Amino acid sequence: MKIAVVAGDGIGPEVTAQAIRALQVVGDVCGHTFECREYLIGGTAYLKAGSPLPDETLKACLEADAVLLGAVGGPQFDKIQEPHLRPEAGLLRIRKELGCFANLRPAIAYPSLADCSPLKPEVIRGANILVIRELLGGLYFGEPRGIEQNPTHAYNTMRYSEAEIERIAHVAFKAAGKRRKKVTSVDKANVLETSRLWRQVVTRVAHEYPEITLDHALVDSFAMQMITTPSRYDVVLTENLFGDILSDESAVIAGSLGLLASASIGGKVDLYEPIHGSAPDIAGKGIANPIGAIASAAMLLRYTAGLPQEATAIEDAIRKTLDAGLRTKDLVRDNGRAATTEEMGNRIIETLGDLLHSRMAYHAV
Ligand code: IPM
Ligand code: MG
Repeated sequence: MKIAVVAGDGIGPEVTAQAIRALQVVGDVCGHTFECREYLIGGTAYLKAGSPLPDETLKACLEADAVLLGAVGGPQFDKIQEPHLRPEAGLLRIRKELGCFANLRPAIAYPSLADCSPLKPEVIRGANILVIRELLGGLYFGEPRGIEQNPTHAYNTMRYSEAEIERIAHVAFKAAGKRRKKVTSVDKANVLETSRLWRQVVTRVAHEYPEITLDHALVDSFAMQMITTPSRYDVVLTENLFGDILSDESAVIAGSLGLLASASIGGKVDLYEPIHGSAPDIAGKGIANPIGAIASAAMLLRYTAGLPQEATAIEDAIRKTLDAGLRTKDLVRDNGRAATTEEMGNRIIETLGDLLHSRMAYHAV
């Protein structure tokens, strides 16, 4: 597989390096080839090449089998005036150009991290949510948009076509079919026309999936219920901005934003990225949690490479490493010792190597 790596800004390069190592181990042990080439994106790309998504990067991503992204953004780029030159514009454009309309963001409450969440252990026990966020519509991309003078005002447009809602609904129902067979569709149908259409279309698509239970929830009350009774939910289907907000909130269930991975699929080329962002406050210190990035590599193996066993091996290696008590700074409690990014990466990769070798030996027998 050809993988275009766009590590980007802040902690992006540090965590992505560990994800690439995990892929290399999978390649070495199981006999796959992952050819990883690095390209510029985000603020770093703007500084070095004058654009947050240089043509060379875009071309390489379109020609790759998958894209592995770190993070974009940082306070040093906030002074960039033109919106299309901001680091975030690079990320939004690559999602759009690749056509990735379905963003899958799992949040799992690992038992060994029960004390990392501010929520009570009995509240998060067993929680395993998959947020499916529509990624190419709504306020993020709706036209018209702008800021104008006399009097000064600004506006954005929330817009959804029936076709856009249909295709993401299918992704959610199919995903639920492989899980606990529940979809909760989140909207604001008591106020927004887009949400009324959303609810109508999702309800109609549900008829094609009689084995799946569909519920609807309003986003304000759902934001509360998701963290008061997280184990009630399975697949959470929602539009772009609501999904952006709810997926960060779901990190509270897992215990740290640093743990969460994502897959953006459905277009020409799939894109994988941890959801945590560039974390400028800890960038360059070697203390960021690489688990979100490594788990994103696992999602790449599952959804793009068609290697579910290898994906599971990475996820098992992460779980075992956490069970063994290793914690990066974001996960440390009560003056415990914090592992560096590299130490966490090393341990996961060693464990992964052991798991893969023993599973290969098992299959050889
Ligand atoms: C995310 C991020 C991005 C988004 C930003 C960096 C543009 O918050 O992936 O959730 O809003 O989609
Ligand atoms: Mg976000």
